[in-house]
Amino acid sequence: MTRYPEGHVFYRRLTHDYRIIVRGEGCRVYDREGCDYIDACGGAFVANLGHGVREIADAMAHQAAHLGYVSGAAFTHEAVEQFASELAALCPGDLNKVYPLTSGSDAIEAALKLARQYWAEAGRPAKQRIIALTPAYHGNTLLALSASAREHYKTYFGGWLVDMIRIPAPYPYRCACGGERPYCAACSGDALEEAIVRTGPEKVAAFIAEPVGGSSTGASVPPPEYFRRVREICDRYDILFVADEVLVGAGRTGTWTAIAQSAVTPDLLVLGKGIAAGYAPLAAVVAPERLLAPLARGSGALMHAQTFSHHPVSCAAGLATIRYLRQHCLVERCASITPHFHHRLSALRSLPYVGDVRGRGLLAGVEFVADKETRAPFKRAEHFAERFVDAALDAGLVVWPNVGQANGTDGDLVMLAPPFVITEAEIDEIVTRFEQALSAPYLRVSRDRVEETKR
Ligand SMILES: Cc1ncc(COP(=O)(O)O)c(C=O)c1O
Repeated sequence: MTRYPEGHVFYRRLTHDYRIIVRGEGCRVYDREGCDYIDACGGAFVANLGHGVREIADAMAHQAAHLGYVSGAAFTHEAVEQFASELAALCPGDLNKVYPLTSGSDAIEAALKLARQYWAEAGRPAKQRIIALTPAYHGNTLLALSASAREHYKTYFGGWLVDMIRIPAPYPYRCACGGERPYCAACSGDALEEAIVRTGPEKVAAFIAEPVGGSSTGASVPPPEYFRRVREICDRYDILFVADEVLVGAGRTGTWTAIAQSAVTPDLLVLGKGIAAGYAPLAAVVAPERLLAPLARGSGALMHAQTFSHHPVSCAAGLATIRYLRQHCLVERCASITPHFHHRLSALRSLPYVGDVRGRGLLAGVEFVADKETRAPFKRAEHFAERFVDAALDAGLVVWPNVGQANGTDGDLVMLAPPFVITEAEIDEIVTRFEQALSAPYLRVSRDRVEETKR
């Protein structure tokens, strides 16, 4: 273990004991002491192929040896041409132009800028406002953070952020209708239409949403009709629909894009995380030609120049990932193992403090509550999700925490998103380790305190 201020790394967490991981293979990573951890969340919803895939490493080494870098402003190259062409073929409808970048936040910034630049160059410069959901997370750079409803991330940056129009997310565990008909305004799409009408459609550039909730709602699945209604409303009022599939795309929900399951084509699609399976930092905005046409006739470029966009080695990793997924039928495998995954996870519902288990494909959220009847969350000061993550690590299980979803401050959940190569036996092991973590004495101390606060 190591922790700040040892060494010279400016760690992401300055109060955390870091285990030192030395290698990964399949669904497991190993620390310096030889302990194994099942990577049940692919690091951060990233390692979709599993760890240690030689083919991807070889493709990157080959690319680096032949052409490590040229600027996307001056040149194009085989790696980006092939990556874009194979990625475009997987995207729905007319989405066929790929702009590769290096992080999800960066790609969200680019997509939202493109939406605004498109309207400006198409002669409608007043269309500037963005509508986004609460809860939602779209990244941590300033425009992406503005689109996110992650208030504690905004604490020190208030004056620098852009004012977005916020509407409630479809969140069946906590919304008024529970995801059942008749739907509440959040789940029916009425909230979106009301916001557009209230603001004036002539001022709205885009609506951004995740087709299945990511970490902010813990894999909440909207009602099946939701995105068809969103599409209809956006078409009626001339609003661009931006699908943020940074977390849920690249096969995670059992199809290449999650939105494909709603039979809807967004105007802009944003991918990240799993598209190069963690072997290289890679994200992408995928746009239709109709949105690029005004730029091509006008300014001549998307105003989002980045040194490392269109990067040869990252694109080679993305291309090798797409080919590996295809060759080993891993998106199909993700879909076919989904029933076992959700069946085994549903057993967690009977455990203390597990309020809900939900998700789609190899993506699941487990929401913890202090009271299962009333769904009352733990007080934030309990840090239940963070404590659970530590207990899970002690049990050899890596899960992803998120907090604040119940009311903006309180709320604890953890996410599971294992690599697509996970076996049924490994899924069973995840459940066993999860149960073990939840019964850890370390966590029980916290639970007893919560009981006291309830009395
Ligand atoms: C839905 C969604 N969008 C955007 C982002 C930002 O991606 P990155 O962390 O790669 O900048 C994330 C990251 O978790 C995400 O989950």
